[in-house]
Amino acid sequence: MVRRMSEGLHDDDPGVQLLGRAVASADPDRLVLVHCGDLPGVRGRPARLVLDVRECDGARSRIVRADDDAAIAALSGMQHAAVWPRAHLGKDFSFACLALGARALGPGGKLWCSVRKAKGAESLGDFMVALLGNVDVVERAQGYRLLCSVREDGFDAARAAEAIGLRHEIRDDALPGVVLQSAPGVFSRRGLDDGTRALIEHVAAWSEATGAAPRRVVDLCAGIGPLAIWAARRFPTAHVLAVESNMIATRLAADNATAAGVGERVHVALHDGMPTVSPTGSIAPGTVELALVNPPTHAAAEDLVALFAGMRPWMAPGGSAFAVVSRGGVSTRGLKAAGAAVEEHRAGAYTILHGRWA
Ligand SMILES: C[S@@+](CC[C@H](N)C(=O)[O-])C[C@H]1O[C@@H](n2cnc3c(N)ncnc32)[C@H](O)[C@@H]1O
Repeated sequence: MVRRMSEGLHDDDPGVQLLGRAVASADPDRLVLVHCGDLPGVRGRPARLVLDVRECDGARSRIVRADDDAAIAALSGMQHAAVWPRAHLGKDFSFACLALGARALGPGGKLWCSVRKAKGAESLGDFMVALLGNVDVVERAQGYRLLCSVREDGFDAARAAEAIGLRHEIRDDALPGVVLQSAPGVFSRRGLDDGTRALIEHVAAWSEATGAAPRRVVDLCAGIGPLAIWAARRFPTAHVLAVESNMIATRLAADNATAAGVGERVHVALHDGMPTVSPTGSIAPGTVELALVNPPTHAAAEDLVALFAGMRPWMAPGGSAFAVVSRGGVSTRGLKAAGAAVEEHRAGAYTILHGRWA
């Protein structure tokens, strides 16, 4: 069976198989899967940390949400913790995962990590040594290393807490006076994405030129909320629905909107694409005058088309959607599937798609 990319792993990947074999005989009540999906071969219902709401579909394991601090802190006395690094989320997220796994172990417990030699095996191994004082390369297969550390007296709890609690602050001229809090596990965690900035500049020029003053706005794929917050500040009477599937990002987006003084007009919804029923009384389907989208870059084409197509019931007649992409292609197809006529505008390295509903 091939898993969805939202979990970041596939059963037939040799690195996943290595990790699955390492913990296959573990007592499920004393095993935690740290952002691993339901590893192949694992028995029972171990605890499993999930980052994205899409990972919960059909889960065999006991879900522990990445935004549930109390449930995560309650993980303790484990015999095994398995970590699957998600390279596209950055090294500090892998470090946080290792730290969460190490912290959940009881004495003698084992922290497992399967990682490509070429994708940072050395630095993850070094971090395991820093956390637990030891690491072994237990197995090698097709470019992967299976690393294992044992929790003994050398566990560095302060180092683990530092990796788990790491936060970044983002300041950018595109959002004057706003400080965005960010964390490992979210998109563009260290600074505003260039595509997001290009989209802000394009939509600012468009609203200047047309006098557009939308009152109902959607930010689809909102991340930690830069576009939603920008829109709420640019259009002071607008209500904004920010939709995002990543649990850590969603929580940060809500906090960031509050800190930016627009929390009452920005409603953040944790959802896989646009919901069918409105999660807020302020915005009903069929009333959205402006939608902003910086779509996921790694999504499968059919998922991306479905993401855009889900906007269809939400858009008002005469409404506009702007999306920033590197090339039109699939996203243009998605906007058309949502019922829009689409124009493409070049903006430096990016393409801004402008979808209009008649
Ligand atoms: C390119 S990032 C843009 C984030 C933010 N808008 C910004 O400009 O910084 C795309 C975001 O889409 C989210 N995402 C991916 N698939 C999604 C889905 N099916 N539903 C909702 N959000 C999704 C990802 O978690 C990620 O935060």
